[in-house]
This record gives sequence, C-alpha cells and structure tokens, in this order.
Amino acid sequence: MKTKIKQIKNLALKEIGEAKNLTDLECLKVKYLGRKSELTVVLRRLKDLSEDKKKEVGEMANKARKEIEEGIKNQELRIKELEFGDIESREKIDITYPGAKIKKGHLHPLTQVRYEIEDIFKSMGFLVVESREVEDEFHNFDALNIPKNHPARDMWDTFWIKNSKSKIPNLLLQTHTSPMQIRHMEKNKPPFKIIVPGKVFRYEASDATHESNFYQVEGLMVDESGKVTVANFKSVMADFMRSLFKKEVKIRLRPSYFPFVEPGFEIDVSCPYCDGAGCRICKRTGWIEILGAGMVNQKVFASVGFPEDKYEGFAFGFGLDRIAMVKYGIDDIRLFYSGDLRFLEQF
Ligand code: DAH
Repeated sequence: MKTKIKQIKNLALKEIGEAKNLTDLECLKVKYLGRKSELTVVLRRLKDLSEDKKKEVGEMANKARKEIEEGIKNQELRIKELEFGDIESREKIDITYPGAKIKKGHLHPLTQVRYEIEDIFKSMGFLVVESREVEDEFHNFDALNIPKNHPARDMWDTFWIKNSKSKIPNLLLQTHTSPMQIRHMEKNKPPFKIIVPGKVFRYEASDATHESNFYQVEGLMVDESGKVTVANFKSVMADFMRSLFKKEVKIRLRPSYFPFVEPGFEIDVSCPYCDGAGCRICKRTGWIEILGAGMVNQKVFASVGFPEDKYEGFAFGFGLDRIAMVKYGIDDIRLFYSGDLRFLEQF
C-alpha cells in the first residue's frame, strides 16, 4: 500500500508539473484528489488494516494528499504568472483617450423639407392633414370637377387598381393630393385652412424631372364669400416662399387651367439663386415655376354639398420634390430615391 501511495504521489506531481493551463490543472485535481481518485480509494481501504498500520499508512496518505494539493497550488501560481504576468503591458487601456464617434442616421432630405414646410404653414394657422395613398375615382377625379371622358383626365396618368376586393368601385393610387380637399370638406364646415402632404403616383417613365412616385403638398383655405381673395393667397404664398428660401423673393401669377379652380394660376418665384438675373437653376429666365393654384371652383363646393356662392377659397398644390430640388440646387429627382449614401449624407 505504501508503494502504491508513493507511486500515485510521484505520478501526480510529475503530471501536475507538466500542466500547461488552468483547465488541465483542474482535470488533474479531480483525477488525484476527487472522490473517485486512486488516493481516495486507498484511504477507504485503511479500515481493513491493523491499528498500527492504519496509523502509519493513514499518515502517509494524508501527507501525500497535502503534497499533491501544494503541487497544484504552486503550479497554478506558475501558470497564472505565465498567462497574466504581463497583462498590464499587453492590455493597457488609456481611459483618457477620446472614444470613437458613433455614426448617427438622420432624416431623409425630403422629410426634412416636408417638416420645414409644415412648420411654416402651422405658424400661419394651417392644420396639417394626412392624405391617403389609395383613393377612389370619385375623390381623385369626379368631385374635383374632372368627369369621366373629360380630356382633363389626361393630365393625370393613373395607376388603376385591378381586381380589387373592395366594395368601393374604381380604386387607384392617388395621382395628386387634391382628393383630400374633398374628404376634408365632407367632414368640416368652413372656415378652415389646411395643408396636406402626401405621396402621389403617376403612370409615367422617370427622367431627371419625373418620377412615377413622388410627394405633393396640397393647400386649401376656405371661408364665407368675400373673406378669402386672390390677394390673401398671394400674401400667404409670398410669406411661405420667403420663409422657405430664407430671403426676399418675388411672386408671379400666370393664368392656367385646373378643373377644380376658377380662375387657375401657375405661380413662379424669382430665382433664389440669382435673384432673377438668370442662371443655370432657372434656365436663364430668372423665374422658377413652382406650383398650381386658383380660387376653388364652385362645382367643387357643390360636390360636397355646400350651397352655391356661400363660400370662397383658394387651393394650391406643389411637388415637394421640386421644392427640395430648387432649395438645394439638385438637378435630378431620381437622386432622392436612389438610396445613395454619398448623396443623402450631404443633408
Ligand atoms: N393637383 C394638381 C396636380 O397634381 C396641382 C394643383 C393645381 C392643386 C391647382 C391645386 C390647384 O389645389 O388649385 O397637378
């Protein structure tokens, strides 16, 4: 038994001395000192010995156990010294060093311009009304005095929704934000001032100035007859353009035609880049065409059940993308939808 204990001890100390890392050492600890270790088995057999022998062998076994424990402790220190001794020089952290900047995202330029426009109109007392993307033929066309088979419908190349399961007939993707004029008037009596930002869709090929999907902002101000005039409209527009381009600009109204207004205008602003002298942005004309507008046609009021000639008001609609292009001097609308970070990160 004594020889056995000696053998176990020697082998244990040898293997412990050769252990290269803490995991190996832990295994050896279990192997030589654990409940199923050889040494434990030997100790269990002590009870079969005579009193004298028991004492002698017992003492020896305990001594061996202590030596193994010591060996493990020493080896553990040695391994730790090897592994972590120079950790200070290897993993030095300078806590005064400035941290790496976290890259933050930001709003899309069109969203930024939209919020800016909303803020300007809100400061003039306008309410911002959400528009929808899917509309019906009545609100997009008929109620706006654009009847079926009327040539004016050609002004809006439309995406019709086929095989719709909806009970509402003839659904389409709204071709402009004007239908919300009708929806608002169906639920509200004048006076009111609203703007309606929204996404619109046109069945057309895209090029530098056209997209099949873009954004518009509609405006509508209505009150009793005589209270809202073209002069009011002109001053609202002048205020708006001044706030948007952050400088004094001139406004020009040209006669135009839209079925839902009478008279109808096209509004130009003096070029904010060259102050009307003529440049690349305004194609050397000094003016930039910016929106369609007019005094609400009485037929539109009739379609929402307002009594004839009781109310008067102005309406306008412009392309948000176009405004953003003019504001930032961008010459291709497709850049907004390209998802190209080189472009987007400039805003
Ligand atoms: N809805 C027109 C378009 O998409 C823009 C427009 C013109 C809106 C005149 C108006 C308006 O409210 O009065 O081309």
